[in-house]
Amino acid sequence: MKNVSVIGAGTMGNGIAHVFAQKGFKVNLIDTQNEAMEKAINTISKNLDRQISKGTITADNKASTLQNITCFTSIELGVKEADLAIEAATENSAVKKTIFSTIDQYAPAACILASNTSSISIAQLASATQRPGKVIGMHFMNPVPVMKLVEIINGAETASEVTETIVTLTKILDKIPCVVKDFPGFIANRILMPMINEAIHALSEGVSDAATIDQIMKLGMAHPMGPLQLADYIGLDVCKNILIIMQEGFNNNKYAPCPLLIQMVDAGKLGIKSGEGFYKY
Ligand code: CAA
Repeated sequence: MKNVSVIGAGTMGNGIAHVFAQKGFKVNLIDTQNEAMEKAINTISKNLDRQISKGTITADNKASTLQNITCFTSIELGVKEADLAIEAATENSAVKKTIFSTIDQYAPAACILASNTSSISIAQLASATQRPGKVIGMHFMNPVPVMKLVEIINGAETASEVTETIVTLTKILDKIPCVVKDFPGFIANRILMPMINEAIHALSEGVSDAATIDQIMKLGMAHPMGPLQLADYIGLDVCKNILIIMQEGFNNNKYAPCPLLIQMVDAGKLGIKSGEGFYKY
């Protein structure tokens, strides 16, 4: 496997492009927005500088990583030679299905199609293609260059050779693969999001303030970030959408987003990306 196409140049897409390019893969980074692409390359460059300043890579490594990335504004051209295409677009199943169907049309027959979805059913995405056996979930964590986990999700029809290939590939990226089944929220978000939601309930009930709730989880549970700080980092809109996908997918209101979370999203308080969430940035 040499050629990897990444569809979507947002936070996750640029992180995924970064780690593959750093390991010598030829990466085609695809986004319809030129502005998003420029921002992505800048972010990758800054994150490579962090690695240089820590002494984990050299300036030559940075140059070769950036050289391994080519930007495209069309899926049609960007996936033509892909061995693996990873979709990292917005967390919306209609958008993702359209992307999957387009990749399926233009990528070589042998190409594996992966989604970085955090909660949408892999079987649903696979149904938009003519190759459901070659569709799999490859869920990276943010910040991608730092986090070791890749949650690998087998859809109902994912072929076992495809899972084996993706497990091997994940190890080549120096990451740890954890294989799970295709259930709403998989494992990472099924456990993470109820914790974040509960922290928001505790805040809205006035049990304590945001900083204290976060401090309790950081000091008491050795979490690197408290749940409210982490929600701001992930994006409150993303948290809300994942909770709704689980609420609907399990038909269980225990996953219903806290009213305060809904109000904050409605008010445009989305966390770090909008400048305000549970904290101001
Ligand atoms: N790119 C590259 N490197 C980065 C980085 C980035 N965006 N952000 C931080 N780093 C590196 C730093 O250079 C530093 O490297 P060294 O260890 O070599 O010194 C290291 O990460 C730690 O960074 P800092 O010292 O600046 O800051 P920190 O100690 O506060 O750590 C953090 C930052 C890694 C983000 C840490 O707070 C953390 O692990 N937070 C939790 C992150 C988490 O839970 N992510 C999962 C979110 S859920 C998700 O992604 C999936 C979903 O579906 C919603």
